[in-house]
Amino acid sequence: MDRFLVRGGMPLCGEVAASGSKNSALALMAAALLVQGTTRLRNLPRVRDLDAMLELLRALGAEADWDPADEHAAVIDASRLTRPEAPYDVVRKMRASFMVLGPLVARCGVARVSEPGGCAIGVRPVDQHLKGLEAMGAKVSLDHGVVEASAPRLRGGRVAFDMATVNGTQNVMMAASLADGETVIENAAREPEVVELANALCRMGADVRGAGSDRVVVRGGGSLRGVEHRVSGDRIETGTLLIAGVVTGGDVTVTGVDPSHLEAVLDKLRETGADLETRPDAVRARAAERLAGVNVVTAPWPGFPTDMQAQLMAALCTASSSSVISETVFENRFMHVPELQRMGADISVEGRAAHVRGVERLAGAPVMATDLRASAGLVLAGLAAEGETTVNRVYHIDRGYERIEEKLRSLGADIRRER
Ligand code: UD1
Repeated sequence: MDRFLVRGGMPLCGEVAASGSKNSALALMAAALLVQGTTRLRNLPRVRDLDAMLELLRALGAEADWDPADEHAAVIDASRLTRPEAPYDVVRKMRASFMVLGPLVARCGVARVSEPGGCAIGVRPVDQHLKGLEAMGAKVSLDHGVVEASAPRLRGGRVAFDMATVNGTQNVMMAASLADGETVIENAAREPEVVELANALCRMGADVRGAGSDRVVVRGGGSLRGVEHRVSGDRIETGTLLIAGVVTGGDVTVTGVDPSHLEAVLDKLRETGADLETRPDAVRARAAERLAGVNVVTAPWPGFPTDMQAQLMAALCTASSSSVISETVFENRFMHVPELQRMGADISVEGRAAHVRGVERLAGAPVMATDLRASAGLVLAGLAAEGETTVNRVYHIDRGYERIEEKLRSLGADIRRER
């Protein structure tokens, strides 16, 4: 198992390119299942979650692989889907694989996908995905941990989500693109990844309107055609790299990203006293002084993303004043707290709120990554700490960040991977 050795204290400075959005890519790969033809996705991050998704698509019978001519592109031909079943082993490791359910029922009339079950950051049920497919006429049953959905032909329906679910909205949007008639999604998630998927579906020939608002209308029915799509820059990776700059008192510019995808994060960083500048496709963040504490509440778009909570907390550990971080999206997303405490952070958790009292500095220590974004937070803490931090179990980080240690090193960080 790999680990990172981080020696903290170096201000990170320079320019680095964002990789493509992992979460957008996962949804787009699932969308390729809707097409009897070839979809080519470009600007993909080379991360383990995408390897896993390609493997799943192959298991379903599609031809799916990285493009030998471009290491950041993949070609997916879903003309023939021979086995509409996603086994537990795959779904357990990557919940996003549940997004194949909608496209598979729409294409094959029946699909079986294992129920994802719990994961490190909480229970994360899929009831809303299922409610959406049922509203389109699918018969859904659960047998020995496997969800089976069937419908000889899906038809449009009205789906009112109980909460804004990103992958749930995407799952239903995809299925609705092949369903007969009109589907209306109320309380839809509004994240940029939902909008990007909707745009790609439209280019495939679907009629999807309202994405980015809480009411999405899909008129389905026709068949879809393969497209080439360039995935937009990863807003979470960008936010992580920007925090690496400001927490070390450095000056970092991330290119290849749409700053409007990061508004809530940039607003919060400004509130800490960091200096932010945006260009149409880049963001620069620097901080000459110790950051100030801020209060933050995670929320669905356009709120502060839960996927940036651990990284911001790492930065606030050494702020000049106190912060309160409230996590409202997932119920168990403070697993980085005990690890940060081992580095000298002064944090107490009460229910869904973490009180962070800034300390002068963190001290390097061996820590353990527990999930993707928590691991990123620990790396950031290590960059700011005095002495050496060993981040164990970095396979979590490899799921969603492409060669993060190389990107950080190019900015002047002292970080290396030990196998
Ligand atoms: C996506 C992102 C993830 C991010 C999350 C919230 C991908 C691959 N992953 O996950 O990185 O942290 O959005 O921005 O895009 N819920 C239910 N029932 C459901 C579905 C969701 O109760 O059927 C709950 C979840 O437990 C959670 C909340 O709704 O409390 C939001 O989760 P959701 O938006 O669905 O997260 P994902 O789409 O799985």
